[in-house]
Amino acid sequence: MAQHQTTDITQAVLDRLADDCDPRFRQIITAVVKHVHALAREVDLKPDEWMAAIQFLTRVGQTCDDKRQEFILLSDTLGLSMLVVQLEQARQSAKALADAAAKSKPTEATVQGPFYWVGAPELPLGSDIGQGMPGEPAHYSGRVTDTHGRPIANCCVDVWSGDGEGVYDMQMGEEAGMRLRARFHTDGEGRYHFWSIKPTYYPVPDDGPVGDMLRAMGRHPNRPGHIHMMVYKPGFVPLTTHLFAHDSPYLDSDAVFGVRDSLIVPYERHAPGTAPDGRVMDKPFHSATYDFALAPA
Ligand code: BEZ
Ligand code: FE
Repeated sequence: MAQHQTTDITQAVLDRLADDCDPRFRQIITAVVKHVHALAREVDLKPDEWMAAIQFLTRVGQTCDDKRQEFILLSDTLGLSMLVVQLEQARQSAKALADAAAKSKPTEATVQGPFYWVGAPELPLGSDIGQGMPGEPAHYSGRVTDTHGRPIANCCVDVWSGDGEGVYDMQMGEEAGMRLRARFHTDGEGRYHFWSIKPTYYPVPDDGPVGDMLRAMGRHPNRPGHIHMMVYKPGFVPLTTHLFAHDSPYLDSDAVFGVRDSLIVPYERHAPGTAPDGRVMDKPFHSATYDFALAPA
């Protein structure tokens, strides 16, 4: 009978891995076993603490349904989602640097978050997706190019945000349907433009186990104001990112660690009058401009 000590049980588990395991799976599960065993040794984990952790993870699973993904929220708030995004970003940037003709790195990505909804309405450039929603109007415009600076025509710019009070349509109840989201396609010069609202900061859902964890950690649940954008066209590496409002609270303490300096955008405030697209506004409005660069696939 094989009797293992605290010192050799880790190797004993690893020795049971079959020789014909998928190599990448072997690499990852080996690291998982080594790191969780090291964690238990490092903190001298007690049985009741391990049971509390199991109960916490059980509650995380039980909180998930077709509208809420508490495991993603856990990964986001522990910084793991953003770490994975940054590792991918580093791979893409290294590829761009290896391309002597490239003029820029690809635009930085950030977390997708739980509020993406596949199949947002396809709308013509210039549409207003913020009409009738709480929030100050904002005009968004810019270009999509490749990393050589060439415009990408007919590129999808899929946008979504919360309203001016930080509430997403998915949090408004069944009857709300899709709000503040749409898919636009760039024109022949790679340009996009549309109207929405200036987003405000809001808390990530904190009424579940992840909220309990944040409170136990003494952390706030807030994200700085941002609009999500997914920019994609076959032949290019799809980009999932946000534009962050330059004057939002919480830019330096985003609950999910998603802020990148390169994604902080000035929202210029204008008095009522003629907007950049010729629309006459009877109330103050904002304008934000941002150009995206996509890497070749
Ligand atoms: C969001 O920005 O929509 C979001 C991202 C991560 C967790 C919760 C919300
Ligand atoms: Fe968001």
